Amino acid sequence: MKVLSLLGSPRKEGNTAYAQDHLEEQLISLGHEVINIHIPSLSIEGCKECYWCKQEDSFLCFNKDDAIPILNNMLEADAIIFSTPTFCWGFPAQLKALLDRMFCLITWKEGDAESHSLLEGKTMALIVTAGGEIKNNAELLGLAFENMLEFMKCKCAGIVYIAPCEGVQSINEKVKQQLNDLAQNLSKSI
Ligand SMILES: Cc1cc2nc3c(=O)[nH]c(=O)nc-3n(C[C@H](O)[C@H](O)[C@H](O)COP(=O)(O)O)c2cc1C
Repeated sequence: MKVLSLLGSPRKEGNTAYAQDHLEEQLISLGHEVINIHIPSLSIEGCKECYWCKQEDSFLCFNKDDAIPILNNMLEADAIIFSTPTFCWGFPAQLKALLDRMFCLITWKEGDAESHSLLEGKTMALIVTAGGEIKNNAELLGLAFENMLEFMKCKCAGIVYIAPCEGVQSINEKVKQQLNDLAQNLSKSI
């Protein structure tokens, strides 16, 4: 199965990337294809709130920047993993821009009682690192993620919080076991 693994940290070899690598290795050993993309290396603008994506016959976003191939990758993937540090009690701006742009994957037509999600039924997972605690800090990203999944009609395979994260040594055997369990959950739910 195809797994899209998105790194939201500007640091390609930081704490979050280290945890993401471990999860990806597990998924590859379970026989999955993993596509890794470093989001801060791309040029992705925030949503301009033009609602072009909600017009009939429009597909994805009017803004043809680097978000478009990622959104297409999402449509092709069976599962999507977001790996992110906590920045100011939220997602790094580069990743947040992509999350906002995912709004174009929600469609509705006049008269519809409910919206439709182009990602409906897909499985997602989240890794969060933070310098501080989980409570009232890293968990805020998890809360936003869970709300997003409900809106997108997606399944959650799990969230791994690595907090407080004081360097890659914090991604110890206990955390690696949590990442192994997440790989198993992802594998089962795909
Ligand atoms: C701009 C910035 C904002 C941060 N904000 C928070 C924060 O709100 N809460 C927290 O616990 N850690 C915060 N941190 C620490 C990072 O979340 C933490 O060091 C993380 O593990 C870095 O991951 P990385 O090595 O993958 O970049 C911040 C770090 C930076 C650079």
